[in-house]
Parts: sequence; structure tokens; C-alpha cells
Amino acid sequence: MMKIMESGKLNLAVLASGRGSNFDALCRAIEQKDLEAEIKILISDKKDAASLVKARRRGIDAFYIPPRNYRNRDEYEAVIVEKLRERGVNIVALAGYMRLVGKVFLDAYKNRILNIHPALLPSFPGLHAQKQAVEYGVRYSGCTVHIVDEGMDTGPIVMQSVVPVYQDDTEESLAERILAEEHKIYWRSLQYFAEGRVYLDGRKVYIAEK
Ligand code: GAR
Repeated sequence: MMKIMESGKLNLAVLASGRGSNFDALCRAIEQKDLEAEIKILISDKKDAASLVKARRRGIDAFYIPPRNYRNRDEYEAVIVEKLRERGVNIVALAGYMRLVGKVFLDAYKNRILNIHPALLPSFPGLHAQKQAVEYGVRYSGCTVHIVDEGMDTGPIVMQSVVPVYQDDTEESLAERILAEEHKIYWRSLQYFAEGRVYLDGRKVYIAEK
């Protein structure tokens, strides 16, 4: 059993490809002192990501880094890692970041890159998780915060929240119900790290009692 990090305020980086509602929820948790963290930087791989604007409005350094400017994923991730290290980032939250993470990034932040996924993993990994759940006909879905590994949505699970799926649900209505839970469990999961309570044993995460 291995402790992932000691307690202390988090120096957080957020990576986001889209609208940034999870980023906003993290900012609110920090403002309300529910989450002991400072967001040092936001990085997006999409030029028109609303999350970039949201971060800048809050006075957070925000960068669009276009992957196609680099020869391969290693080079792209080396640039990201450099920016994070310059700012003393010690933990990373993927918040709607629609890209697989590679070896350079994983090695630099081993067990310290978290992701939120809009399904109860290991069900419905990958894209359009809410659509997958509606089409499959499950009665419950939800969201998962997990530690990122080399797979797609395969890493050790930190926290999950369950929501019902109704017979008349659409992808959109289910996504909205799930999103409300995402906004509750991401900062809670991160706060466990800030409290130095997260342990890893193989692929199992243990949260120590306070
Ligand atoms: C969220 O629902 C998040 O779980 C999902 O993208 C959305 C981003 O919303 N992530 C994935 O599907 C990752 N595979 P946001 O930009 O408003 O936070």
C-alpha cells in the first residue's frame, strides 16, 4: 500500500477541451474553502474552448496549446509538463479533456493525474458515455473520478456517484443529471489528496479515515 501524496494545499493544473463547467465547480469549491487548492494553470487543446475564457476571467493563466504544432504526443506533452513544472504544479485534473494521456505526462505526474468520466466505469468508457448508457438501457448510471493510467478510462477509481436513468431520458437529460454529480465529487476527490488520505494498492484506492 502506497500513500500517493502528503497533506498540503494542492497546486492544481486543469486540462479542459470544452465548456469548463467542472473547472468552474472546482473554482467554486476553492472559493468556498471546501477544497484546499490553488489552480495554477489551465491548458486546452481547443482554441475556442470556453474554459480558456473562464480561466482568464478569474485571473488564472490559460494556454491553448495546439497538438498539431508538435510532431508527436511526447513532444506535445513535454511542453505541457514544462509549463506545469514552472508553476510548481503537483496534481492535475482533467476536466473534459478529450485526449489520451501518454507516457511523458504519466511519468511526470505518476498517480497524480485525475480524470472525471460521465459513467460508472468500467461501463461505458470513451466518448459519448451518456449516449451509450441511454442506448444500452441501464437503469442507473453516474460518474467516476479515477486516477489516469495508460488506458482509456481504465485507472484506479477514487469516487463514484450514481444517478437513475429514466425511460424517457435522452443523452442530454441524462448528461445534465450526471453533471450535477460530477460537480460534487471532483472537488471532494481532490480534497482527499489535499488531506493526504489517498493510498493505492494495485488498482485499488483507499481513503484513510480522518
Ligand atoms: C463532462 O461531462 C466530463 O465528465 C466529460 O466531458 C464533460 C466536460 O464538461 N468528460 C469525458 O467524457 C472524458 N472522457 P465540462 O467541460 O463542462 O466540465
